[in-house]
Amino acid sequence: MARLVIRGRNRLKGKVRIGGSKNSSVAIIPAVLLGEGESTLENVPAIRDVKVFAQILKDLGALVSLNENTMTISPNGFTSHVAPYDLVRKLRASYYLMGVLLAKFGKAEVGLPGGCDIGPRPIDQHLKGFRALGADVSVEGGVVRLYANKLQGAPIYLDIPSVGATINIMLAASMAEGTTVIENAAKEPHVVDLANCLNSMGARIKGAGTDIIRIKGVKSLKGTCHSIIPDDIEAATYMMAAVATGGDVEVSGVITKHLEPVVAKLREAGASIEQDGDFVRVIGPDRPNPVNVKTMPYPGFPTDAQQPLTAVLCRARGVSMVHESVYENRLGYVSELVKMGANIKVQGRTAVIEGTDRLVGSPVTATDLRAGASLMVAGLSAEGTTDIYRLEIIERGYESVVEKLKGLGADVTRVEE
Ligand code: EPZ
Repeated sequence: MARLVIRGRNRLKGKVRIGGSKNSSVAIIPAVLLGEGESTLENVPAIRDVKVFAQILKDLGALVSLNENTMTISPNGFTSHVAPYDLVRKLRASYYLMGVLLAKFGKAEVGLPGGCDIGPRPIDQHLKGFRALGADVSVEGGVVRLYANKLQGAPIYLDIPSVGATINIMLAASMAEGTTVIENAAKEPHVVDLANCLNSMGARIKGAGTDIIRIKGVKSLKGTCHSIIPDDIEAATYMMAAVATGGDVEVSGVITKHLEPVVAKLREAGASIEQDGDFVRVIGPDRPNPVNVKTMPYPGFPTDAQQPLTAVLCRARGVSMVHESVYENRLGYVSELVKMGANIKVQGRTAVIEGTDRLVGSPVTATDLRAGASLMVAGLSAEGTTDIYRLEIIERGYESVVEKLKGLGADVTRVEE
């Protein structure tokens, strides 16, 4: 276990380069198991979730080598259709193996992922999609069992634009017979990245990034070489750290289009933001303006950026409202910000934040990845020292976070417990 010790109030200055997208990586790493040859993935973030998935693939018999930000995967030895609970429990996104195993072997046994600190996170829409493709689905004893002697393309209307369900159905449908149409599909950047990767393997997917995705099944897929898109949420987190500390930070290696909702909201909060090519430069005000925000599926304001934004608004010149419409309870972390002197009231899915001119460093604990990001942003702008326990939760999704913050002039130290 480790903790991050932050001595706050340094205005962040300088440049930080963004790594590959965690959420794209955990979809594309299992996806390339569908190829008949070796695949190489570039710009893979060196984070815990990626390392865990590499281990899961090895446990399933694939040959995997991970060297810094390049992963090579050869599926030849991959013959098992069973992803046991002890693997799945380490990484929720391993439930993408359901779509992959079903497409590859016509059957799958995958331990049910648990809920987590942000809600129960059911997978009913995933299973609805698999049934529509002709699979028998049973869930008992904490295991999802899928079987189909042949997957048949079908129209599928998602009750909600679920990212995970869109991805899992795309994986299963890529090698089904006939055409699958997913309506009310998720449009997140990493859904598009996965579709592009599958198409580079010979899949025939059109419409990714819109709410209607058409997938013409193919008999086989080949290996590929694909570069993971940059992580828009990592970028958003450093942009918010710049705003929270009144800093001047250039965030590079991004796709500016993916950051539009975050740029718009931070400009409302008083930041001046220039964007050009693959970087955004963020200059924060001494104290942010209050803003109202409602998280929405892409291209709305991303739910994963809600927590770091709330940390910024703790020092706003007035009252802000943050409404979390994607998850049932993604505001639990607020109690840790209150320990630091934030004035926040939570009613249901809405947090009302009365800005104060000072936060005070305190010992706090990261309860989930983006809650940890929120505490990091708050600690950087607080007076005194903030100890964030369970730093490994933050390192699940933020590559070299201590080094990157140091590179921006933050006074941070990683302390092993
Ligand atoms: C992905 O989770 C991301 N994770 C999440 O990021 C992100 O918050 C979320 O998309 C929304 O953008 C990965 O990509 C690995 P959903 P996912 O299915 O796929 C409900 C992070 O911090 N729902 O779009 O689980 C669900 O309960 C993580 O990087 C159903 O009811 O998101 C939630 O309330 C956190 N039934 C909402 O939909 C289903 O079958 C959105 O879930 C599926 C989802």
